[in-house]
Amino acid sequence: MNDPASPAETLRGTLAELLDGLPPSQAAAAVERLIATYRGDTPTHAPILRDRADATAYAAYRMPATFEAVRSALAAFAAAVPGWTPGSHADVGGGTGAATWAVAATWPGERDVTVLDWAEPALALGREIAQASPALRGARWQRARIGAALTLEGADLVTVSYVLNELSEADRTRLVDAAAAAAQSVVIVEAGTPAGYARVIEARDRLVGAGFRIAAPCPHSAACPIAPGTDWCHFSARVSRSSLHRRVKSGSLAYEDEKFAYVAATRLPVTTAPARVVRRPQIRKGQVLLDLCEADGHLSRTTVTKRHGDLYKEARDADWGDAWPPEAL
Ligand SMILES: C[S@@+](CC[C@H](N)C(=O)[O-])C[C@H]1O[C@@H](n2cnc3c(N)ncnc32)[C@H](O)[C@@H]1O
Repeated sequence: MNDPASPAETLRGTLAELLDGLPPSQAAAAVERLIATYRGDTPTHAPILRDRADATAYAAYRMPATFEAVRSALAAFAAAVPGWTPGSHADVGGGTGAATWAVAATWPGERDVTVLDWAEPALALGREIAQASPALRGARWQRARIGAALTLEGADLVTVSYVLNELSEADRTRLVDAAAAAAQSVVIVEAGTPAGYARVIEARDRLVGAGFRIAAPCPHSAACPIAPGTDWCHFSARVSRSSLHRRVKSGSLAYEDEKFAYVAATRLPVTTAPARVVRRPQIRKGQVLLDLCEADGHLSRTTVTKRHGDLYKEARDADWGDAWPPEAL
């Protein structure tokens, strides 16, 4: 018997079918409109995803990337809480449900899933796409506005992916505090820009203040060692380009790299990485330069050379965002 398709493959196939049903010019026009909107002023006072064409454009154009970014953050989180599986998941500002697919890809099996968003067209499309996944078919898609009236029901895991950017400062604070009150674990993902990183740090500080431990990417729960304004902690996830991407970006590359910033915090006991690789490793002749965030809360650069034997082999395979050194060494 063939293995059932992975959530990632199922999502890719389902989004490709969705796109097939849309005239190319209409899809491209909806994407151009989305890009223009996101260049405009946020926070917005009304949903950006106003109709099915908007939601479809978002799903086809952005969802594969937000899915890969969240999946990458969840992989690092899962490594820090081995053996734990969320029994319930709430995705706030979940849109078409990218994070629910990432949770399904990280922890197989069924669970109680709720997606909250104020854009009904996004929820409707997310529900439709989720029919392709046995783990997500039973999810609840609920209209909710993030604001003063937001209440979250208890959940093992709350995800907030690419949402803080669309909120006012007061609503960001309310959302993070509500997530901290409702969840055992909170994973927040933002664009990998200086502003995205700043929003992640703001949320990280609130979560630590609420008694959470940081599970990833930081190997510690102390203050971030990056001096504000000098740099920003972010990572990269590889995303296959859909035919729509190639059409809109008129490029020939089969993939693109989605840059993201994130924090995964929990009330569970954590086994954090000894250190994390916080930049793309630089491979030179006979040596690898690794920029690390260390468990003692400091940044460092280490040079691993051929003389280090197995460690050198591992360093050559090390990726931006990996734990260092790998567990087996
Ligand atoms: C960039 S999309 C991210 C969607 C999804 N989380 C993902 O990662 O693909 C931002 C989402 O936040 C939702 N959103 C923004 N402001 C909101 C608010 N005040 N209340 C509820 N949802 C909101 C939008 O409708 C949209 O679906």
